[in-house]
Parts: sequence; structure tokens; C-alpha cells
Amino acid sequence: MNIFETDKQYVANTYARFPLQLVSGKGSLVYDEKGKEYIDLGTGIAVNGFGVGDPEWKAAVIEQLDKIQHTSNLYYSAPCATLAKLLCEKTGMQKVFFSNSGAEANECAIKAARHYGQTRKGKDFYNVITLKNSFHGRTITTLSATGQDVFHEYFTPMTEGFLYATANDIEEIKTLVKTHKCCAVMVELVQGEGGVMPLDKAYVKALEQLVRAEDMLLVVDEVQTGNGRTGSLYAYMGYGITPDVVTTAKGLGGGLPIGATMLGERVKDLFTPGMNGSTFGGNPVASAGAISILERLDESLLEEVQKKSDYIFETLSSAKGVKSVSGMGLMIGVETEKDALAVLTACRERGVLAIKAKNKVRLLPALNIPWEQLTKAITVLKEEIEK
Ligand SMILES: Cc1ncc(COP(=O)(O)O)c(C=O)c1O
Repeated sequence: MNIFETDKQYVANTYARFPLQLVSGKGSLVYDEKGKEYIDLGTGIAVNGFGVGDPEWKAAVIEQLDKIQHTSNLYYSAPCATLAKLLCEKTGMQKVFFSNSGAEANECAIKAARHYGQTRKGKDFYNVITLKNSFHGRTITTLSATGQDVFHEYFTPMTEGFLYATANDIEEIKTLVKTHKCCAVMVELVQGEGGVMPLDKAYVKALEQLVRAEDMLLVVDEVQTGNGRTGSLYAYMGYGITPDVVTTAKGLGGGLPIGATMLGERVKDLFTPGMNGSTFGGNPVASAGAISILERLDESLLEEVQKKSDYIFETLSSAKGVKSVSGMGLMIGVETEKDALAVLTACRERGVLAIKAKNKVRLLPALNIPWEQLTKAITVLKEEIEK
């Protein structure tokens, strides 16, 4: 059976896949069906934070699988409660709603924001301000939150109640708040799909002040930036702010689907039974794996992430053919003179996998990628950019 052809015939045509099938791996090394080895700088789009087949994550998942794989939220479950406690202790947030993806985590955040606006200020205070060039998910409402027209095409009408502001322009957002009835501002601190663009610190601080002054919520989408990816446990910690709602997914599960919406002091008691739910949310196997991931995201690992980040920035910033290097921690975008896809193809042929963000080469290696593999992969990437 030719997998490429079977996929093309039977799987909905929503992905422009690389011409490659990955069948196994160990840490930051992955293998195709012919046994060819690749150093993986993509980690399934910031998911496999400890690489493939991480022994501790696997043991935690298997241990839970041997007990019970699913209970539904009709019953109490220790992995779900324990994970929520751990998330709150590590972040200072107060309660967690679990789902299965980043989009669902953001849906819950938007529900929390609308609920807050309606109950505090009135039914019309439902507008959520997001940023141009943002990405918040693929459901109709999170697509509506996404400030890029290209994603809206064919799917109108969008969910109403979203306003888009230019990143790093605080005056524009102040005007929107004055002219519309708003309940929240929702941002990615590093716009991932938008080209790995970090927001300015002063702007983010000003946003925090603005939402406090206007009795609105600050929602931070950490679906991609969270769980150690930017060198802080969550990127907001590096910005020195206290959001009201933090969403995450991807790296939290270490490879199994999970979404989490963390609710801060002002919103922790908004929801009551029946207001939100998910059959699989807080699934015990995914939660057990996530506990093992979260427990190991400690200071020494985060320092290591920062050192590796510094190395990549230094090496690539000075390379011929590099226009810019942006991002934070191990979430990095490299703008090249050469077409990004051509660079990725050449790297793949030489056993290095990276991905794209807009017109950039995007690097999202495992947080614990061994130095030897990292330097080898970055050397190949640099050579291909310079060629
Ligand atoms: C910032 C951000 N929010 C939300 C999402 C959607 O996450 P998911 O694909 O798990 O629904 C993504 C996915 O790339 C993302 O990067």
C-alpha cells in the first residue's frame, strides 16, 4: 500500500504535507519508513517537548493505561485533579478547565470573557479585542478571533464580537476600548503562526494596565508559547504580567491531546455546572502524561532552553542569507533570502526537519535536545541558508 496515495485518496485535503512519513523515533531523532534518520527541529509543532518516546512520559501514560483509560467527567479522577493542582501551584492561577486542543481551550477563554463582561457590565459587553496577524484556532469562533482575513475566507459569517488591533500599538487598542463595549483583550505573546513575532514588553505591560483600568480581562493564548517553549514556564512570566486567563495545549500533553484554560482570581468562580464541558477533557491518560511533563519543567531545564536559544540566535543572526531571526526561547523564526520551503527541502534531504511560519523557517526543537544534535542540525541549516 502506498501511504502517500492512500492518504491523498481518503484523508480530507486540508493539509499540505511534506513528502515524508515518520514511523518511529527516540528523543530528537525520528525515522522514516526506510530507516532514514532525521534530527527533528519541529516536534510535531511544539508538542513533543521532551522528544519522541520520552521514557518518563511513556511510563506515566502506560501506568495510567493499565488502570483505566477514560472515565468521563461524570466521575472524579486523580490525574485530572492532580494536574489542575500542579498547574495552579506553578502559575498562581486558581482553577483549570480541561479540553483536548488549543482551539477548545481558547473557546473556553472566550466564554469566560463574555460571561465576565455580561455579568460585570451588561449584555452588550461581549467584544473581545485580538491582534492582527494572530492565530487562535480553527473552530468558527477561534477563527473569528484570529486576526487574519485569509483564514476567514469561505467560512463567513464569522462569530461576531471580535475587533482586531495592530500589535504593539497601545493607542489603537485604547481607541477600540473607548468606541466599543469590550470584555477582554486576547493575545499571543509571541505570534507563532503569524511568523514568530514577540510582542514588546512595554506594550504588554500597558495592555495589563488598560484591562485593569477598564475592568476587562487579559487572556493570554499560550497554546504554542507555553510549557517551557519560550524559556519561561509560561511566556507571560517572562513578561512579568498577571493574566486573568491563560490557555495552553500542545506541549502540555507531550504528544497526547489536551487543552487547558487556566482561570485567575477574577474569573475562577464564573463557571457553574453545565456551562462548559468536554467528553474527553481531563482524560486520565493525557493528564498522567501531562503531569510527568509539567513536573520536569524546572529552572535548570529552562536555563538550558535559554542557552540553546542564545546559541541558535548567535549562529544564525550572523549567517549570510539570513534577513532576521525572531522569537523567544526555542520558538524561533528565521527569515531567509532564499525561499523558506527550498531551505526546508534541502535540510530534509540532509536529515534535518524544520517547519514553516509564514515565509520563515520555524524552529521548535525539543526542550531537551542534546547539544550535539542541535549543533549538527543548526550547522546543516546554516549551510543550506548560505548556499
Ligand atoms: C497560538 C495558538 N492558539 C491556538 C492554536 C490552535 O491549537 P489546536 O490546533 O490544538 O486547536 C494554535 C495552533 O497552532 C496556536 O499556535
